[in-house]
Amino acid sequence: MPKVTFVNNGESSDATVNQPLKEITKTSGWPIAYGCEDGVCGTCIVRITAGKENLNDMEETEQQTLEIMGMNDCEHRLCCQCRVKDGEVSIEGM
Ligand code: FES
Repeated sequence: MPKVTFVNNGESSDATVNQPLKEITKTSGWPIAYGCEDGVCGTCIVRITAGKENLNDMEETEQQTLEIMGMNDCEHRLCCQCRVKDGEVSIEGM
């Protein structure tokens, strides 16, 4: 079963395959700020500290936004564009 850990407070949440990361963070009450929720504003940026291979591949909009922010470094993702494929993922809010 997929699982997501929010390293800022050490809490974890079980997830379902392909569950949006946004839904998990909101349900868990983790303090990730959201704006556009379309991968454009960059508000929901997080650092993936483990398990980046367990997230969906990045699409063009997310990639472009991270490039503009200077954060397209394979460590950062936009929460609103991520789904948990399987396994464990650890995220750090910024
Ligand atoms: S909320 Fe705007 S990029 Fe995620």
